[in-house]
Amino acid sequence: MNAPHPISLLTACDLRRDQIKHFLSTTKLFARALQNGNSIPLLNGITVVNLFFENSTRTRISFEVATRKLAGSVLNFAVSTSSLQKGETLIDTVLNIQAMAGDCLVVRHSSAGSPNVLAQKLKIPIINAGDGFHEHPTQGLLDAYTIEEKLGQIEGKNIIILGDIAHSRVARSNIYILKKLGATVAVCGPPTLLPPNPEALGVKFAYRIEELLPQADVVIALRIQMERQNKMQIPSLAEYSRIWGLNRERVKLLKKEAIILHPGPINRGVEISSDVADGPHSVILDQVFNGVLVRMAVLAEICNPKGLSQWLKTGGANV
Ligand code: CP
Repeated sequence: MNAPHPISLLTACDLRRDQIKHFLSTTKLFARALQNGNSIPLLNGITVVNLFFENSTRTRISFEVATRKLAGSVLNFAVSTSSLQKGETLIDTVLNIQAMAGDCLVVRHSSAGSPNVLAQKLKIPIINAGDGFHEHPTQGLLDAYTIEEKLGQIEGKNIIILGDIAHSRVARSNIYILKKLGATVAVCGPPTLLPPNPEALGVKFAYRIEELLPQADVVIALRIQMERQNKMQIPSLAEYSRIWGLNRERVKLLKKEAIILHPGPINRGVEISSDVADGPHSVILDQVFNGVLVRMAVLAEICNPKGLSQWLKTGGANV
């Protein structure tokens, strides 16, 4: 078996603190360059293939927009009209795509670890766009970028991840990244939706959100991942909302400057009420906007590291 492509992005767990910082500082420079009307054609001549075996709105579109903003080409692979439907395997599918066109694959799949398996077979880099309940590294990076943008720094901040932690790839990637950047992370939710041993992830945990909210700088609310549960692990969504939902009364316990994130899609009235999702603490749509910028930084680093390095020394230094 071959080693994975050396510059694939498969997990946040494997990222070093300096690599995370590099992605965040590149994102900041890209944001400034775009604001100033500068073009950043670092993917000129490069084709990025989006292979989404699970549904997506934000991640797929933001990878597409990010590629286009860097002057690259995008191919969106349509699972339902492909020869996967005739029984072709996933590995044969990606080997054929590699033979035809792609310089980089962005992969989302319901099986945890599938991007790692593909990376061992391919010569081109892979970016994990979410694999089962395992990881969603670019979501972790964009959440970190958003927190740093809004609060100035992540070091020393108290961050709560609330909800269905056990089935959440976002929670896992967030924990790895935020802890490496010096945050104190706590998870909170029903006992059946917390991982069996939260301390092993280096986080605190609580079953009641009210005891954590007054000290929190950031709350990351998560959707109940019904698609990853064999059977319902809470009595009902109404019961979940009553005890753990972020609503107006609970938000009153937060500091004025605390922020609320959610990776989306949000279920209004379940894990978050509409007035909170649209209220003054919410930075949910800023996360979505930042997703494009962060994915530009990731694509540039992975598809054209030399070009990015040169841009950072010249254009990036002047934006
Ligand atoms: N946050 C996220 O992964 O959203 P999508 O499923 O819409 O891509």
